[in-house]
Amino acid sequence: MQALQVLAREHAAIAACCERFEAEIGATVARCEVDAEAMDRLLRFFEVQVDGHHQEKEERIFMPRLLTRAPGADVFVLRFLFDDHGAQRQLLAQMRAQVEGVTYGEPNSIAVLVRAAKSYLRAQRQHSRWEQTTLFPMARRILGPRDDRALLNGFRRLDELWGTAVWDAARSLAEWLDQRRALVAV
Ligand SMILES: [Fe+2]
Ligand SMILES: [Fe+2]
Repeated sequence: MQALQVLAREHAAIAACCERFEAEIGATVARCEVDAEAMDRLLRFFEVQVDGHHQEKEERIFMPRLLTRAPGADVFVLRFLFDDHGAQRQLLAQMRAQVEGVTYGEPNSIAVLVRAAKSYLRAQRQHSRWEQTTLFPMARRILGPRDDRALLNGFRRLDELWGTAVWDAARSLAEWLDQRRALVAV
């Protein structure tokens, strides 16, 4: 199914940004200091392109179609998607609050930020893995070519609304981070 290939390609872009985020968190711990602009851009990617764009595709386009076709036992499994997205959203809000705390010089903010970031990375990676190993095989079993076309149309509409593809946004972020590192290294 082409729609699943789109979601898998987005997962690869998200995984690459998770690695960048992990490196930035490592640098934060090493310096005992937050690079506010780099952290802001990374968090914005996860807030806008992951929690917003990618998860909107899953929640508003992919899941409703799957839910109308899935038998009862599968419907039970599908609710994990919404639970996981909600948990990630809470961790993103926590990280945002701690970045603000750092700006105001709150002493514990870096430690709490690092802890929340590690939880977020773990949750995000587990979630993508769960979708690829449980959800996607279920979709392949339940959905047909007509569903695939409808999903692709829905995805295209959302890409237009968000004004970019998730992988293009991920590439721009990686380029910005590379330039930033080159500047900091000078
Ligand atoms: Fe998801
Ligand atoms: Fe996903």
